[in-house]
Amino acid sequence: MLRFLLLSALLLSAAIFQAESHGDHGDGGGGSCEADPNVRVTAEFRPGLVSVDGHPDEWAEVEGSELPLLPALDPDTDKAYPSGKITVKALHDGNSVFFLMQVDGKYAYSKGENTKCPSVALMFQVGENASYHNMGGCPDMPGKCTSKSCYGHEVDIMHFSIGSAIPGRLYGGNPIDNRDGIGGDRFGHLVDVYAWNPHCRFLDGKGPSANTSNAQNDWQGAWWHSSITFHSGLIEEDSPYSTNGQKGTYYFEFSRPLRTMDRFQQDVQFVIGQPSKVAIALWYPTGGKPWSGSQHYSASCQWLPLDIMSTSIGSLSGVQSKNSWDAATAFSLLLSVVSFCLSIFIGYWVSRSKAIPFTPIDRM
Ligand SMILES: *[C@@H]1O[C@H](CO)[C@@H](O)[C@H](O)[C@H]1NC(C)=O
Ligand SMILES: *[C@@H]1O[C@H](CO)[C@@H](O)[C@H](O)[C@H]1NC(C)=O
Repeated sequence: MLRFLLLSALLLSAAIFQAESHGDHGDGGGGSCEADPNVRVTAEFRPGLVSVDGHPDEWAEVEGSELPLLPALDPDTDKAYPSGKITVKALHDGNSVFFLMQVDGKYAYSKGENTKCPSVALMFQVGENASYHNMGGCPDMPGKCTSKSCYGHEVDIMHFSIGSAIPGRLYGGNPIDNRDGIGGDRFGHLVDVYAWNPHCRFLDGKGPSANTSNAQNDWQGAWWHSSITFHSGLIEEDSPYSTNGQKGTYYFEFSRPLRTMDRFQQDVQFVIGQPSKVAIALWYPTGGKPWSGSQHYSASCQWLPLDIMSTSIGSLSGVQSKNSWDAATAFSLLLSVVSFCLSIFIGYWVSRSKAIPFTPIDRM
């Protein structure tokens, strides 16, 4: 009886540990374009780790998601971006969220010509009915769409076109465009945009009928390519900064406050501990030919979940504390099993040794 109890307790605890160790999933790259529920972008709480300078070094220990890049309008694996997958990393410091996108690609830079340089965008769901397809999916035609008729279909877009941006320098929100109350960026074209569908797309603060006047460009970002060797302060005269056609990796780094002062559904609002929805796009001037707006690669054919984590998991210290927690749990479980068996044994022993002999009632 005692042996049976002990054995079943041990089997039970072994089963629990099996289940726990299988509960963990790493973020893997989905091979196909179909939405893979395990593919997500995770922003852990890692304050003081990165500076937005386009350099990836500080991100080395942050785990990323590797995603295939397929043509957004024709997601055919045969037409994937030829130089490989895009790696997306994210983290937050309690105030701002940070993103790093890195993708292999031969150096292509043509000063002042955005469409002859690579370009990246992040799109976020704002309205609850905003679809990934058709940038929010409002059915209204251009000229007809208004903030009322397309309510619920808002998406927030950050688009960085690097034709006038010096590598390693910060672009995006700046005092001049922010004073005008629009999401533009006259210096580096890192713009803050919202849309209801591809034809109804506006800089934050602008609209089909009126400007809202209080908008801001809340994004900042920088870019770099691994073939650029000069690290301490490039200036415009150094353009094109590297030699066109050189093999290497492009890096795009961004930050945005978790919350903004938007009052018109033009910015996504991030909440720590709550998931958001993101999509990632890349434009590349294949063969030196300029790209057009709709001609881009997408890292998914659906929204990807983006988790703004409330704690840091998966970091070295996180893993250690998780292991010690498991050990403590195992020990207390073992202790409780032992004491449970002991109490049964004592009860059994007491009832046996001090048993009052059975006395049939008819003898009394
Ligand atoms: C989203 O769509 C559902 C179903 O059509 C509707 O009930 C809901 O009001 C919509 N939400 C918004 C914000 O428009
Ligand atoms: C919106 O603001 C821009 C300046 O950024 C101005 O040129 C335009 O006329 C304004 N539109 C409306 C409808 O007020």
